[in-house]
Amino acid sequence: MEHILWCTGHDLKIKSANKAQGCFVYDQDGNCYLDLESGVWVTPLGHSNPRVNQAISDQVDKIIHCGYYNGSKIVDDAARELLKLTGIKNGKGVFLSSGSEAVEFGIKAIHKATGKNKLLRLHDSFLGSYGAAGEREKEAWHLLDWTDCQVCLEKEMCALDCPVLEDIPYSELGGFVFEPGSAGGLVKFPPHPFIDNLVSFFRKNGGLILVNEVTTGIGRSGNWFGFQYYDFQPDLVAMGKGLGNGYPVSATVMTGEVAKKLEEKSFYYQQSHQNDPLGCRVVLEVIDIINEENLVNRSWEKGEYLRERLKDIFSRVDFVKEIRGRGLMIALEFDGPGNREAAYLHRELFNKGFIVSLRPGHNALRIDPPLNIEVKHLDSFLRELDEILELYQD
Ligand SMILES: Cc1ncc(COP(=O)(O)O)c(C=O)c1O
Repeated sequence: MEHILWCTGHDLKIKSANKAQGCFVYDQDGNCYLDLESGVWVTPLGHSNPRVNQAISDQVDKIIHCGYYNGSKIVDDAARELLKLTGIKNGKGVFLSSGSEAVEFGIKAIHKATGKNKLLRLHDSFLGSYGAAGEREKEAWHLLDWTDCQVCLEKEMCALDCPVLEDIPYSELGGFVFEPGSAGGLVKFPPHPFIDNLVSFFRKNGGLILVNEVTTGIGRSGNWFGFQYYDFQPDLVAMGKGLGNGYPVSATVMTGEVAKKLEEKSFYYQQSHQNDPLGCRVVLEVIDIINEENLVNRSWEKGEYLRERLKDIFSRVDFVKEIRGRGLMIALEFDGPGNREAAYLHRELFNKGFIVSLRPGHNALRIDPPLNIEVKHLDSFLRELDEILELYQD
């Protein structure tokens, strides 16, 4: 790999992967790995899904790309399906290439629609790798530290004079960009009353709500979208990753009111692969498969099963801080300074052919398997983990 630039901050794991199918990745030496990370959390239907492959191959023979100045029925159909899933009526959508781009688009849209360039985000949210989404500058963002909310005793209702909510300059901000449940990859779920209050304060002040569903969406969290665990309807929804099951397509959908404002204010955004028919064909196939195979519910059920079994297995050691998750989006967080336990488990699992994700800078592992993973494969992972833990020494 001497001619490839590695600049992701991650070490090279599999040296030369040459096949990936279903839940498994194979290397050129014939080693096989159970991919409990779904690539970078992007393959809810497993690698190289035959139906998605067929859809790509059919579409390639018809039309791949037509340019953002031309319309195509398949693009409109895909937008309609996503709007239906998000519950946004009479809205509009745009198709892009990456999760970062979908969030970036949404941020730019709020800037334009409200005329306000400063927005609120939770202090630990990850929104994207570049542009406004990647920035944490004081001019661009009001960062809200919700650490206290994680241990707040007011579980049902926020106190009316809670300083976390009171000290926000709502009228100066264009809106709130909410990542409902990933929190920088650590799978944390901001409390229901806190988020619903925040949203309603923004709404009273004309602010818009963009949810970043790049990780939490497309069934991963046991619902079609992570915001559906709360009591509000967003103005804009950004999605990516699982939407293309490995094919690079993302989307931002928005209400008719937001779209109208953007049209009135001549919002301008263009890139070469905006609204490509090929990506949209993939989106339609992914949605069909998830619906036909009931994968949103199955993600919830398998997630419950996996978390319970993990709690059971880890009860033999005393270094677990928390095992949490929703659907098939699970984090294991360990006590102690550094990342000794997580790094050990990550390495041992990898050596035995299991890929989980190690969160850089944290003593934590993440497990995000394909939504259609078979229970027997989860069980083989749990058995191996149990054996590794049995040999673990403090
Ligand atoms: C929560 C969240 N938002 C946005 C992104 C950016 O998506 P992409 O890497 O497709 O640009 C990621 C990527 O990991 C993410 O986890």
